[in-house]
Amino acid sequence: MSATQSDTSGLAAGPALDASFFAAPFRHPVGSPIRELFPYLSRPGMISFAGGMPDPALFDGDGLQRAQEKAWKNKSACLQYGPTDGLPMLRAALASVMRARGVQCDESGIMVTSGSQQGLDLLLRVMVEPGDVILVEEPAYPATLQAIRLAQARVVSLAVDDDGLDIDALSARLAQWDRTLPEPKALYTVPTFSNPTGLTMSRARRIALLELAVKHRLLLIEDDPYSELRFSGDAVPSLLALSEEVPGSRDWIVHFSSLSKIVAPGMRIGWMLAPTEIMRRCSIARQTVDLCGPGWPQAVATAYLEDDACAAHLPRIIAAYRAKCDALASGLQAALGEQLTFSTPQGGMFLWGRVASGVDAAEVLKAAIEQGVMFVPGSAFYSDKADRSTVRLSFAMPSVEQIGEGVKRLALAVSQMA
Ligand SMILES: Cc1ncc(COP(=O)(O)O)c(C=O)c1O
Repeated sequence: MSATQSDTSGLAAGPALDASFFAAPFRHPVGSPIRELFPYLSRPGMISFAGGMPDPALFDGDGLQRAQEKAWKNKSACLQYGPTDGLPMLRAALASVMRARGVQCDESGIMVTSGSQQGLDLLLRVMVEPGDVILVEEPAYPATLQAIRLAQARVVSLAVDDDGLDIDALSARLAQWDRTLPEPKALYTVPTFSNPTGLTMSRARRIALLELAVKHRLLLIEDDPYSELRFSGDAVPSLLALSEEVPGSRDWIVHFSSLSKIVAPGMRIGWMLAPTEIMRRCSIARQTVDLCGPGWPQAVATAYLEDDACAAHLPRIIAAYRAKCDALASGLQAALGEQLTFSTPQGGMFLWGRVASGVDAAEVLKAAIEQGVMFVPGSAFYSDKADRSTVRLSFAMPSVEQIGEGVKRLALAVSQMA
């Protein structure tokens, strides 16, 4: 029965719940701008460059089935409540993944989370008070912007260029911090194959950023779901791995990673590494969120990693994403030329571009949907002052053939803007 209907007891029902009933961050909440595009995806024949989802054709069904059979031999681990920080055997397997990425650690320094998104949520819970300032490279991953807003912190955006975060600008800003704002508490970055730009922060800038973190006592939140998906160029170590080179900097890094983009997002396996005092508090915060993560996918992930199936699977998905990225970049160049400028990413899932200035990408999207192709207008990735001519195209989901057709449709939509 709705709150406005009267009931048979004769008591007048109260008014419908209005915004004031809810906690401040949820009085007028705004959902994810990308998820709002989902209804169009089901249109017959639609080609989508919109989502950031992995290609389901690339899931390692056989490898995961083998892992599942092995995991099931330990039914108790699959079915029982488990430790809040994750199954010890999975933490050990993830520690060895991190050591292979150049990070010194053991399982005691790893907390398993329900996707890396949960790690960010826990961190914000234990760290942020209303009004706190969090620095964010922009354009940025919308779910991070949303999480920071819901934590009632202020986002202060930082400029990026083709080499990632503009460290000189950041350094100058920190040196002459706007005294009307609280000192920034943390800085969020996706330094490798960023979502949305696909770009990577150079090694030199990473070192400079670590030095700034120590100097200004600024917590660096490194979000790293994509770095294994490199298809060209030389690998750049994570901030966490490079912290060995900058004394004291490891104390200022929280690092998130995930199996979502390299194995399967449906497993919801992410993990975090952070200074002990942060980890301890995140673990306590998690006790009230879900007590512990589901044991079953953790046990499957353990078996999968222990059998080196992930390492064997990676070259296959890297080759596939490389082919897709090449198809998109060369197709856009041929079909749109100067009408769309972009840098070709060396890995990840995204290509960031800009249509002619003055053209609103949201209008291009409307025309594109009519042509049967979708993308995400760049404005979704800004906290304020969006560059409305920008677009994010994900090459992960469509096949190479669909990418070719999608580019043709996109070119038709862009030509209608002239
Ligand atoms: C930059 C970034 N961080 C975090 C996530 C969330 O990943 P997970 O599935 O591990 O929660 C995504 C997913 O698209 C992402 O692009």
